[in-house]
Amino acid sequence: MSPLVREDALFSWFDALHGPTWGSVLDAGTGDHSLRWLQSLSPRALTGVTAESWRMDGLRQVAPAARVILGQWTDPALLAGERFDVVVADYVIGSIDGHAPYFQYEFLERVRPHVADRLYLVGLEPQPRDGSVLDEVCRVRDAAILLAGHRCYREYPRDVVLAWLARAGFKAIDSKLFPNRLGARFVNGQLDVAVRKLPYFSDRAVASGMEAHIVELRARALASVPQVWGADWVIAAQG
Ligand SMILES: C[S@@+](CC[C@H](N)C(=O)[O-])C[C@H]1O[C@@H](n2cnc3c(N)ncnc32)[C@H](O)[C@@H]1O
Repeated sequence: MSPLVREDALFSWFDALHGPTWGSVLDAGTGDHSLRWLQSLSPRALTGVTAESWRMDGLRQVAPAARVILGQWTDPALLAGERFDVVVADYVIGSIDGHAPYFQYEFLERVRPHVADRLYLVGLEPQPRDGSVLDEVCRVRDAAILLAGHRCYREYPRDVVLAWLARAGFKAIDSKLFPNRLGARFVNGQLDVAVRKLPYFSDRAVASGMEAHIVELRARALASVPQVWGADWVIAAQG
């Protein structure tokens, strides 16, 4: 659920820190945006991993020369014995609870043997629980995910991830918070997730009540944006 508006600034922060030569790169939780960015850096070799089969066709189109692997970080055989100059984890830690519950606490130890030089992380601070309309949008999204019987993402603060990095034997080099300025794209993106969950509700009356609520909330939220709300974080670490 990355707010697209921030991405250029986040990736530019890594570009400026890293310099021109990227060597071999692993996109440890790949998607259109991170893979497109990494390909634009002309790395010597580019590998991407995703747990989601629906992403595969699009990813092959975005970066035909990249090696894109459908796999699970819980599988010890995934990329066994391979090392990369740079490993990127772009909005991966927050998404792991949806794919491999509780594995986020082991993820940094799991990728450590694959990092020859740098690990670059992007994440979202947990959403502010401030009763604002954007807070409401995110709570309705999560309620719909849960009523559909699916699992939500779980985001972690930068300071928690910095502590995990130290525990996993990484040395943090630099980090930064980027406040998010959110608009209609964010509101529609989050509420569209909620709408896509409605067919999975077991109770049709609850689904139609939720649908009406989403319509009302969407109008209210769209009238209140843009707003600065929440923040992304970036961390650069040495392996
Ligand atoms: C929120 S998406 C990341 C978005 C991506 N970087 C982009 O450019 O949009 C999270 C990615 O991490 C992957 N992922 C999450 N948990 C995983 C796991 N346990 N094993 C492998 N991949 C995982 C997801 O399948 C997805 O590709």
